[in-house]
Amino acid sequence: MADRVYIFDTTLRDGEQSPGCSMTVPEKLKMAAKLVELGVDIMEAGFPIASEGDAAAVDAVAREFPWMSVAALARSNKLDVEKAAESLRNAKRPRIHTFLATSDIHLKYKLKKSRQQVLDDAVAAVRLARSYVEDVEFSAEDASRTDWDYLEQVCRAVVEAGARTVNLPDTVGYSVPEEYGQMIGRMVKALGPSAVVSVHCHDDLGLAVANSLAAVQAGARQVECTINGIGERAGNTSLEELVMAINTRRDRYPFETKIVTEHLFPASQLLSSIIAFGPQPNKAIVGDNAFAHEAGIHQDGFLKERTTYEIMDPKSVGVPESKLILGKHSGRHALAQRCETLGFQLTREQLDQVYQRFTTMADRKKGLRNEEIADIARAVTEEVGAAKVS
Ligand code: KIV
Ligand code: ZN
Repeated sequence: MADRVYIFDTTLRDGEQSPGCSMTVPEKLKMAAKLVELGVDIMEAGFPIASEGDAAAVDAVAREFPWMSVAALARSNKLDVEKAAESLRNAKRPRIHTFLATSDIHLKYKLKKSRQQVLDDAVAAVRLARSYVEDVEFSAEDASRTDWDYLEQVCRAVVEAGARTVNLPDTVGYSVPEEYGQMIGRMVKALGPSAVVSVHCHDDLGLAVANSLAAVQAGARQVECTINGIGERAGNTSLEELVMAINTRRDRYPFETKIVTEHLFPASQLLSSIIAFGPQPNKAIVGDNAFAHEAGIHQDGFLKERTTYEIMDPKSVGVPESKLILGKHSGRHALAQRCETLGFQLTREQLDQVYQRFTTMADRKKGLRNEEIADIARAVTEEVGAAKVS
């Protein structure tokens, strides 16, 4: 399928290597089970040379889910590639993901190597990886800050050496959508059908999802991403945001993924229970407020017709229902509905009274709990009388 976009999940590798996110082998297995249900195409389970735990996690994930494509990361050197291969020895669908920086800034200060040396090392690593597995991915680290002519040379060389996927990361989250799309478009054209072009974006400027989408429009067919957008520094492309942007705006993004979107929220919740933090409340798709409405005008519109203020059905991402938060910005419509849910059918006069007391209280608090609203409604119905309390 030409417009199928493959989802390469790196929650267990790039996500896991960021502060507060490290996972034990059993935790990785638990998360991997959810990723399988979610329908990701490839799971990157770890960086085996980094620790024995990571090596064990790659092996455990590959054994537990033999039908899944499982990737292990390796720098472009013999030791790393051999360790990745060893960790994947029991995998039915192993992928070695080897990487090397290609930008001049990394070559000069980090690697202290010439462009030719880096090109040779990349080719050698891919060849070695191919001697172990069929499925090899090469990543040109810091691709977005690499000279495009040189990058194209590297891309062609690693494909010639046997890489099936060429990943072009925006490692430091520096790129902007138009530029990243142009870079990806050029490499897609250069490689043609010989390899899948993949993207991997970091969110330092808050553009990881936008950059990934621009890349898909330019011909990339694999996106590397993480649940809740966890990852180095400001994180990676958020899987849930990317997938829902494609699903919600298919008029602009006529692409398909295999993600079962109803598992997005449960996957986010599970990850939050494993690592040290959850998404911020206003995080798109999976944040606490992603389907919550407090403003009276919004609540009124929402109660008349949900789509006035919601572009996605919460159930479609596994969120049980939208929330109407009753606070100082809320209106009568939502308050009346909440009172009804709480068992109070108020007369117009009673509702006026409840609303008055509610706004006075809400002015001093950040949202009222159901019990507080019920207390007000009970007091008013006792004072003003004649309301039916079920
Ligand atoms: O951000 C990056 O460049 C990476 C590579 C190892 C793929 O995570
Ligand atoms: Zn990364």
